Amino acid sequence: MSAPGFFEVLEGWDGVGVVVRHDQPTGTWIFIALHDDTLGPATGGCRMKVYDRPEDGLADALRLSEGMTHKWAAMDFPFGGGKSVLAIPHALEGAERRGLLHRFGELMNSLGGRYGTGADLGTTVEDMQTIAEVSEYVIGVHGRTEGPMDPSPFTALGVFEGIRSALRHRFGSGDFAGRSVLVEGVGAVGGPLAERLAGAGATLLVADIDTERAASVARALGGMSVRLADVPSTECDVYAPCAVGATLNAETIPELRCAIVAGAANNQLAAPEDATRLLERGILYAPDYVINGGGAMAFTSIYMGADDLAEVERRVRSIGESLDTIFAEAAERGASPVVGAQAHVARVLQRGPRPR
Ligand code: NAI
Repeated sequence: MSAPGFFEVLEGWDGVGVVVRHDQPTGTWIFIALHDDTLGPATGGCRMKVYDRPEDGLADALRLSEGMTHKWAAMDFPFGGGKSVLAIPHALEGAERRGLLHRFGELMNSLGGRYGTGADLGTTVEDMQTIAEVSEYVIGVHGRTEGPMDPSPFTALGVFEGIRSALRHRFGSGDFAGRSVLVEGVGAVGGPLAERLAGAGATLLVADIDTERAASVARALGGMSVRLADVPSTECDVYAPCAVGATLNAETIPELRCAIVAGAANNQLAAPEDATRLLERGILYAPDYVINGGGAMAFTSIYMGADDLAEVERRVRSIGESLDTIFAEAAERGASPVVGAQAHVARVLQRGPRPR
């Protein structure tokens, strides 16, 4: 069977539309996918990558923009699903890269605010600043912050509140004291998360591919480091994947000795069936796209003019409340929280923008 062409990739996708442009000077295909604008302007990062075929870049843009619709709706935040892909023919540097980014910015401008972007795989904060030289639709660069901001501590805060919600649901109390949490990956998100957990009285276990880093975080916070290979079989109340995706799969799920999985990593489930596998093992799973949205939430809040940090934090903490609803609904149906999250998303989209 031959690989799907442009038209086949688009068939069956029910988004608002896609803007396509072939950038002649660099040979890049630019795709801006607008999946849904029910709650607000389509918003999502800009991915720059070499694909085998431009059609694969289009497919990525469509899939990722749909993911953003779910992410914003799960948080009940006034943005729609969008994503852009710059399918470059080879790595671009210097003037070539700048030129492409400027032309991409001008293409965004032609949409008059229907799409807003930020950094994603293959693009950097510096790239965003380059785009911002010609376009006002770059999130996290314009706004009231001094210079580009780091979303990771806000992501960590959202995950912390998400874990608290899971503890409430599972054990009847959101108290961290005496609860053991294994944080896998103590980088930009896992690091501040581990600090919060230790501060709240949790028993901290940490693992990282960088064993030195794991040991030093454990030392600093009074926790214990765990070998990466032992992560799935380590007994704990909460396993918080904060490194790479697909750590929940047919091999690891039978080994898990935790009550809850709740962490920041994207795409934690290797396959959709893994949600059912976790349910069957009686492990409560916090859907990744709900629990890890704190950084995106903070970014966009500040972009929209929020200058009261306490208010931004309050919004990020509300991720815990969204998860309360999702867990309760899933329990009522005897289904995975993934099903609860989908129902929550559908309800929010059907209701439309939140009345102000
Ligand atoms: P990071 O790169 O700062 O930290 C990742 C940490 O995991 C590092 O300490 C690294 O040594 C470790 N690591 C890498 N590969 C590993 C492996 N195979 N096993 C165990 N440890 C490994 O990344 P960051 O920003 O903390 O992101 C972590 C996860 O959270 C990623 O999956 C990311 O997509 C997701 N995420 C991050 C957000 C943010 O605001 N930074 C927002 C939403 C999701």
